[in-house]
Amino acid sequence: MQKKVIFKIWRFKPPEKRQGYTKYEVPVVEGMTVLDGLLHIKENIDASLTIRYSCRMGVCGSCGMVINGKPDLACHLQISHIRSKVIEVRPLFNHPAVKDLICDFGPFFEKHRMVKPYLIRKDAGEQENPTLEYKQLPQEHLDYMQFSYCLKCGCCYAVCPTAATDELYLGPQAFSAAFRYLVDSRDEGWEERVLAVDTSHGIWRCHFAGSCAQVCPKGVDPGLASQLLKRLVIFGTGRGRAGAGIIEKPVPVPEKIEKIPKPPPATV
Ligand code: FES
Repeated sequence: MQKKVIFKIWRFKPPEKRQGYTKYEVPVVEGMTVLDGLLHIKENIDASLTIRYSCRMGVCGSCGMVINGKPDLACHLQISHIRSKVIEVRPLFNHPAVKDLICDFGPFFEKHRMVKPYLIRKDAGEQENPTLEYKQLPQEHLDYMQFSYCLKCGCCYAVCPTAATDELYLGPQAFSAAFRYLVDSRDEGWEERVLAVDTSHGIWRCHFAGSCAQVCPKGVDPGLASQLLKRLVIFGTGRGRAGAGIIEKPVPVPEKIEKIPKPPPATV
């Protein structure tokens, strides 16, 4: 007999503001994701169900939602990896709901824009008429690589306790983006970017709950970014690897390893 699960989905329909859970029974096949289950409902049971998705392969970040209490990408989470027979799905917390599982990402992207998430250079002439390449060592790339994986899916923002209480709070995703560019050896945008993060709704409101890192589907740690940003602001520079001072220096290898004499045998 084919396995079935119950989808318990939060339905919200403006302008009536009608809201509540609706249950649907969905047949499950091997490898089926939560997004596949939702699309099965939309195509076969209730066409009015509203969801947002695009790539269906965990790349675009548009299918973020709360699944059994935890934000995740619906196209990333397989139904077989969920122990419960009931899959409860609702829109992301801390984002204004638009309809059913869709949220308004306008304010979220506005905060992302505030940290100027692109390389800022002062050599305008070179930008207009390039003559050379901007070189970067592999080690310099590692300095920010983790933070460049961010999909902007909004899962980190949905679990942030500070974002839940301060709607002006910049939030974990914006901190990751700011840090990613501030420590890029090619960037020269310290003065402009620091104005966005060093505010009363910026990095100093992060009390390092760490839940952002727990839910990131790409393994980014925005809490780490906010702590390192605090350090950059205190020490007053972020211009590339050389000035940042936050990069772990390789441990110097001693030229000669001295042998540690063995302790004498214990006597009774
Ligand atoms: S649909 Fe693109 S990440 Fe899920």
